[in-house]
Amino acid sequence: MNDKTFIMENEKEITRIIRGLSLEEKVSLLHGNGKFTSAGLAQLGLPEVHYTDGPLGIREEISRDSWNPAGWNTDSATFFPAGTALAATWNPSLAARYGTAIGMEARARNKDILLAPAINIIRTPLCGRNYEYFSEDPLLISRMVVPYVQAVQDQDVAACVKHFAVNNQETNRGSIDVTASERALREIYLPGFKAAVTEGKCRSVMGAYNRFRGDFLCENEYFLTRILKGEWDFKGSVISDWGAVHSTIRSALAGLDVEMGTEAPFSAYYFADSLLAAVKRGDLQEKVVDGMVRRHLRVLMGIKAGKPERKTGAINTAEIRKVAYDVASEAIVLLRNSRDILPLDPSGLRSLAIIGANAKATFANGGFGAGVKAQNEVTVFQGLKNRLGDSVQLKYAQGYREKYHPGDDPARFFGLQPVTEADPVLVAEAIATAASCDAAVVVMGTSRRFDTEGDDRHDMLLPFGQEQLVNAVTRANPKTVVVIIAGGPFDLRGIIDQTGALLWTWFGGSEHGNAVADVILGRVNPSGKLPYTIPAKLEDSPAHALHAFPGDSASVEYLEDILVGYRWFDTRGIEPMYPFGHGLSYTSFDYTGCLTDQSGYARGDTIKLSCTVRNTGGREGSEVIEVYVMAPQSVANRPAQELKGFTKVNLRPGEEKTVEIPICINDLSCFDESQNEWKLHPGEYTLRIGASSRDIRRTVQVVVK
Ligand code: BGC
Repeated sequence: MNDKTFIMENEKEITRIIRGLSLEEKVSLLHGNGKFTSAGLAQLGLPEVHYTDGPLGIREEISRDSWNPAGWNTDSATFFPAGTALAATWNPSLAARYGTAIGMEARARNKDILLAPAINIIRTPLCGRNYEYFSEDPLLISRMVVPYVQAVQDQDVAACVKHFAVNNQETNRGSIDVTASERALREIYLPGFKAAVTEGKCRSVMGAYNRFRGDFLCENEYFLTRILKGEWDFKGSVISDWGAVHSTIRSALAGLDVEMGTEAPFSAYYFADSLLAAVKRGDLQEKVVDGMVRRHLRVLMGIKAGKPERKTGAINTAEIRKVAYDVASEAIVLLRNSRDILPLDPSGLRSLAIIGANAKATFANGGFGAGVKAQNEVTVFQGLKNRLGDSVQLKYAQGYREKYHPGDDPARFFGLQPVTEADPVLVAEAIATAASCDAAVVVMGTSRRFDTEGDDRHDMLLPFGQEQLVNAVTRANPKTVVVIIAGGPFDLRGIIDQTGALLWTWFGGSEHGNAVADVILGRVNPSGKLPYTIPAKLEDSPAHALHAFPGDSASVEYLEDILVGYRWFDTRGIEPMYPFGHGLSYTSFDYTGCLTDQSGYARGDTIKLSCTVRNTGGREGSEVIEVYVMAPQSVANRPAQELKGFTKVNLRPGEEKTVEIPICINDLSCFDESQNEWKLHPGEYTLRIGASSRDIRRTVQVVVK
């Protein structure tokens, strides 16, 4: 159904409802009455509203009045791969299946508003929440978020896209004042949200904790009213991040609609008794409250709250597990396979060493922030065991211990510094295990405590002595595969030359272990591509090169401006360790021809770019074809190139397909701050088509008039 018509049909009904409500009833709708609930209206058949995180799946039940788990035994769910994993698939149809699956689980758990997806730009390798986010590139985010949101909402659940906006670090997140240019906002930080709103038609948006140009995001008139509700014509509700509200009248006038999560009695919320009092005193017009109620009711009606025909969902069905598996396996990025170690042929193996605590670690919970009570979570060790059965002897060695300064208090989440020295006893054991086997798999990288909400990493170094461990294991057995489980990037300089085979993986969800095993054993041909740049060293990445992270305790200025991620590396000519969009396959692809339907275009046109790709290797595989655009030389201050289109295609050995990648000419515009508008510069643009941002296979020139 056309969403606009749908909203209009409800409008009269909403007006009628609002007329019949007392001020007290209206205000009761606009704030939490529990940590993850807000009041319904029994007389109208509107049940209490249930909110749930989030980016890893439907969160376990939390107590009504504290962050403690509610202690249910019916609140398990599928652990879905994190946002970075979904983005690494570069597969929008998979994003739609993911949205359907997570939406179904939300319904089965009787949830109304899903606090996901989280789509903030990955600005620095250190952000503790990078794992939840999608990418450093706004186009990749936009293309993935739209089908995700649409599919969630098709299940009669509202997506609450977060955290709006410029919430790109955890350090001082509750107060940090971000300064960024208008151009950086428009070109980098906002397009993902804009796509979620204008194309995905998300029903709600979450206001972030931080400030922008002095104002908290939940009382930021520029963001909430002018851009979101004005320019983008957003009709749904703005929900605060949990405890992100700092005022009553200011927030209400700036465009916040619903307040959630404050650490206070529910009546003491800014949008509770004090909202009521503000209207009664005459300091705030009741029509402002009516507008907030209207938006909230639109959300509830849109998801058919209280209606018998509403979808009821399902949990952890075979179909949902398949989605979790498909995302996990398509997300795995083969960074390096220099001695053709991968895939391992099981018929040639009698014994396999599996080394590293992450081989047996789980990731559904831990650290600070939303997790999932996973119905099942297959570890990499279990995945290899599932696939190899008794035919290969598996020998496990822990290799390293997750250990932090100061102390190891598991209740402590913030300010943890990983111990970087290796444990000599564990390393010696790992060496002996690896040396005694035909091949070795080292599983290492991050953990939920290491990459966590509420804190940023201190550096980009591999933690817990993993560098020494992996090098020792590789020396002991050259047939070693390294599997890194990552949130953000790590500094790989100390291991890369020695490492023959390197798989980059994520918080990969319930099926992660099976997916990793299948890639290692060649049952799945890897097709993930990096959704962010892996810098050689931290100082190479833009915010750090410019000392623009994390700012002082009060503010941070995004000095790199639009040069975020690969835009910086490519424009400044800095060699990354692995470029944005990189990912190898067990087969090879040739780009045999790339053509556009015309040579000249005007504003409003769409370039129909077609590319013929051939699988020239011996295995079936999928390739992401990436299109970067280089603006005319005459235009100053454009990044060296920008992603403007991509598609993913599956090919059998020898098979060839011609794919079409549409590129809207308007998307080649850049934001002109002096005029405060988008400008399309005429001239010759180069379309650079390739397998990564630095593996360009073909170029085509087009002229924009
Ligand atoms: C996070 C949000 C989350 C909310 C509720 C906040 O701390 O920033 O992403 O949805 O808590 O759990």
